[in-house]
Amino acid sequence: MKVLFVASECAPVVKVGGLGDVIGALPVTLKEIGVDTAVVIPAYKPLIDQCQELFKNRLLHTEVRFAGVSTPVNVYQTVIPKSSVPLYLIQNETYLSNGGIYGSPTAFAVSQNEVNRFAFFSKAVTSVFLENPSCDFRPDIIHCNDWHTGLLPKLTRNLIPTIFTIHNLANQGFSATDIVDKLGIYINKSKLLSWDAEDSNIDFILQGIMSADYITTVSPTYAKEILTPSFGEGMQDVLNAREGRIYGILNGVDYKVWDPKTDPSIKKNYSHESLGGKGQCKIALQQELNLPVDLVKPLISFIARLTTQKGIDMIISLLDEILGLGCQIVILGAGDPSLENRLRMKASDLEKEGFFQARVKLEFNDPLAHRIFAGSDIFLAPSRFEPCGLTQMVAMKYGTIPLVRRVGGLADSVESGVTGFSFENFNDSEFMDSLKRALNYFSYKEEWKKLVLTAMQRDFSWTAAAKKYAEIYNLALN
Ligand code: GLC
Repeated sequence: MKVLFVASECAPVVKVGGLGDVIGALPVTLKEIGVDTAVVIPAYKPLIDQCQELFKNRLLHTEVRFAGVSTPVNVYQTVIPKSSVPLYLIQNETYLSNGGIYGSPTAFAVSQNEVNRFAFFSKAVTSVFLENPSCDFRPDIIHCNDWHTGLLPKLTRNLIPTIFTIHNLANQGFSATDIVDKLGIYINKSKLLSWDAEDSNIDFILQGIMSADYITTVSPTYAKEILTPSFGEGMQDVLNAREGRIYGILNGVDYKVWDPKTDPSIKKNYSHESLGGKGQCKIALQQELNLPVDLVKPLISFIARLTTQKGIDMIISLLDEILGLGCQIVILGAGDPSLENRLRMKASDLEKEGFFQARVKLEFNDPLAHRIFAGSDIFLAPSRFEPCGLTQMVAMKYGTIPLVRRVGGLADSVESGVTGFSFENFNDSEFMDSLKRALNYFSYKEEWKKLVLTAMQRDFSWTAAAKKYAEIYNLALN
């Protein structure tokens, strides 16, 4: 069985958020259990400029018809690093290989140019992988991911089964209706497209949900939540109509990348069998960030794309209170410029007031993220909604206890009082109460150690998820 993953990111080659991590790991684990996978992503300009080694092998040159014009496309072939999974990169000057990766640092679709880009990408994928005889990977199934690939099931004209995975329903990809003409689809021949166009736009994620053979999302709880108005982002009726075809499969963690036992970025390696190194990692982190070195003081961390989804606005507004509880905090992330500004201002106010227990790093910094996971004690994920969330699972592997809101994948992966702490409703008092509970627990060293060891031994490897995806591929083929 050959499965082609189509996505906008694939770690470590291109990663903006969790989507990249999933596409860099799931196809590799599927291959290990016998599913023949490959991945295709756009050849973004920063990749061409900075990673020339990816572009040594040009597989084919062709033309793709879009907006009435035939546009040249080059397809390069490499592999996902440290694996044998083929990674195809589609290069095209007009739509794919100009500008950056996304239009906004939040990764949310913001412009017509961006939707054109991914509509073109989807068209290119069908013409290369389903029609071009020079392409050496002929899939039996196409596995689409997020709004970027929402039109792909329609474009395949049911020639081949498609799976559509929702990583984030809030990011939908809206386009002017003439996108269908650009793609050469006749809107009047499709009831779904005509209906979607009634409000004068085409919603890519809606198209993916309605046209794919099976829909998956990245945790069992989110699969249920999105059927309700609170989490459905306006798609709940459409999703309810397809309920029998929706599966929730919890994402995994790539322990080849995220394991304190082997992590080359951290000060001292450690594991649940020998925990000593974690203290050294904490001291090293405090030194690196210029925080007072103190093993007894709890060190709290937050690492995420800065969007309100992640609850960072609540953390900012509560920062004085949090620090008042006698802890240190480090925040790492980039994203929404207004949230970055608020954080920048808050950090400088704190410094002026003489609070030296907080550090804010407004950047994507992968090695630092590793050191923060290793060096901190408590990891915050107070999300408004969370399709899966990977960081809470990474934190557990590093013996850093997650404090999460009980939604989506956070609810499915963190067991309150056993591997972490959780609260139900998104509000200041429930969050602060659970933080106080966690800090109180932290003061009982033996109890805390038990929590740490239990969390570290929870298995979130990709194998279980890969087996479930393989079952869905079988359903789709039959
Ligand atoms: C999106 C979601 C996140 C999920 C990730 C990978 O970034 O917001 O919850 O873990 O996709 O599926």
